[in-house]
Amino acid sequence: MFPRGRKILLGVSGGISAYKSCDLLRRLQDHGFVVDVVPTQASLNFVGKSTWEALSGKKVATDLWQDVEKVPHISMAKENDLIVIAPTTADLLAKLASGRADDLLTNIVLASIAPKVLVPAMHTEMWLNPATVENVQTLRNRGFIVVEPDEGRMTGRDTGVGRYPESSKIIDAVNNALAVASDLVGKKVLITAGGTREPIDPVRFIGNRSSGRQGFALAMAAASRGAQVHLVAANTDLPNIEGITMTSVETAEQMLAVLDLEFPHCDALIMSAAVADARVADYSDSKIGKERLSTLSLVRNPDILKSLSSVKKPGQILIGFAAETESDVKALKDSATEKIVSKNLDIIYVNNVSGGAIFGSESTRGLIVDKDRNVIEVPEISKDTLSDILLDQLVSKLG
Ligand code: CTP
Repeated sequence: MFPRGRKILLGVSGGISAYKSCDLLRRLQDHGFVVDVVPTQASLNFVGKSTWEALSGKKVATDLWQDVEKVPHISMAKENDLIVIAPTTADLLAKLASGRADDLLTNIVLASIAPKVLVPAMHTEMWLNPATVENVQTLRNRGFIVVEPDEGRMTGRDTGVGRYPESSKIIDAVNNALAVASDLVGKKVLITAGGTREPIDPVRFIGNRSSGRQGFALAMAAASRGAQVHLVAANTDLPNIEGITMTSVETAEQMLAVLDLEFPHCDALIMSAAVADARVADYSDSKIGKERLSTLSLVRNPDILKSLSSVKKPGQILIGFAAETESDVKALKDSATEKIVSKNLDIIYVNNVSGGAIFGSESTRGLIVDKDRNVIEVPEISKDTLSDILLDQLVSKLG
């Protein structure tokens, strides 16, 4: 699974400014993009494959005839939300304009329906050459986004138009083309998902029906908006999300131990996990026979949110969840407000789980209440949509 709009392919063609794309790659990663790099053979004269592998943290393919059985040009064309080629040489512009596909990068471009951003960089004479001007026009007519090169010093002593632009200008073009919000760039968001399990003996546990879908939807949505996400998942069975850090835990105490370490470094904690309120007083190392199973003695688990809210720093935002079997709006609002106060929360999402609704399903309904007692009634909507609404609230609280 990839965060929406955050998986992009960086093509690099053979111009001297290829070295500037190393910075572009870093800045794209800072913006929460997961980047595959595909350099052309010619570009490797300027920046080697090892540099791209080290910077991207991924294997870099340069050759169409490598891993042929995986049909990489088709899979890379399909799985990337956008292609940016920086620098784009005059030769590559000509190839793309005529629809040629004689290497890995041009094959991917031809096979992809994703938005494509080209960053031409070349000497002024080449940029102004009627052949290049016509090629750029052809590509623009076909929907390619062609970033205007900057003006200034060239490789030699000459100056003019054709310079590789600042990374920020390219990232603006990428963001515009993707039309995804980037309002959580630079923010660290800690999210819990799933339900804790408290072991009784080696084969049994006390658990709950939380699937983790809501927490994963939040993690995906926050990563899509550029946040650095750490997902702490308790007993979930959902696929990993590329580009986010994930820690798996089983019990409430394990979850608290991870959050104790991570909470001081985050801007927001979204506690969507269902934490078991109690665990057995005496865990048995061996399976308990049924004759001894008539009574379980329980002890209270720590209240994780309460414990973290006591060390909350100014500016940190805490979002809690509550699952209630009460369907009356006033009662839901009252219980939400009570939990906001007792756990020192900024926002709480409270939903009605009566009759097993919500758990494991793709949809949810309930109320969002904040500490100023503003209430948003949420009709039945998907967990993805709720995630975006909650993140809008988070962004407004983060200021
Ligand atoms: N929570 C927590 N630690 C616990 C229990 C709950 O951090 N031991 C968090 C949940 O992750 C959730 C919020 O507190 O974000 C509210 O959970 P809920 O179970 O509704 O709250 P409780 O305080 O346990 O209240 P209740 O008595 O209604 O179960």
